[in-house]
Amino acid sequence: MNVSVREMRLEEVESVINYFHGAAPEHLELLGVDPTRLPSKAQWKQLYEHDYSQPRERRKSLLVLWQADGRDIGFSSVDKIKFGEEAYMHLHVFESQSRKAGYGAMCVRQSVAIYFQLLKIKRLLCEPNAFNVAPNRTLQKAGFRYVKTHMTVPGPLNFHQAVTQWAIEQPLQ
Ligand SMILES: CC(C)(COP(=O)(O)OP(=O)(O)OC[C@H]1O[C@@H](n2cnc3c(N)ncnc32)[C@H](O)[C@@H]1OP(=O)(O)O)[C@@H](O)C(=O)NCCC(=O)NCCS
Repeated sequence: MNVSVREMRLEEVESVINYFHGAAPEHLELLGVDPTRLPSKAQWKQLYEHDYSQPRERRKSLLVLWQADGRDIGFSSVDKIKFGEEAYMHLHVFESQSRKAGYGAMCVRQSVAIYFQLLKIKRLLCEPNAFNVAPNRTLQKAGFRYVKTHMTVPGPLNFHQAVTQWAIEQPLQ
């Protein structure tokens, strides 16, 4: 299994937008995403165009593409970035039939290394819905440590929910 992770190019962000817009209601529910809060496809593309035009230190998001044997299989992104300090990560394999095959844990490890390198952060956090088993298991397998379970609205697309907070610190250099 030849898995690779690299920063996503602007012309590739449609894959992310289409993933959310094409998701079944029950999948969005599992993700803790409120479908009424998704920006339209055009608005969302514009938000990314603006963000990609910013210097790294001022970016609101950073996306990485996951590929296996040259095929796009998923992505990770970070938001709530405090450059040099911390950021919050998300993780998604596009197709349900490609999940639970080992890609997620491998790609998360590579994504983490990219975020630490490009954003100079000291810690990376992730807050999946507490009832969504897959990311919780995957984060633990990829080396994150459990911090706490709490109620919050994790981001602008989400509804109020129970989330599990996981963290990983930058390895000593
Ligand atoms: C979360 C996600 C990226 C993980 O990627 P993946 O390729 O499925 O994960 P892996 O195959 O590497 O599995 C990693 C671990 O999690 C476990 N796992 C994965 N999916 C699971 C599930 N649905 N139920 C129980 N365990 C699961 C695996 O068994 C493995 O643990 P193990 O080796 O100890 O058995 C992927 O499942 C996904 O895209 N899910 C839908 C989107 C989502 O929920 N994203 C999280 C939003 S924060």
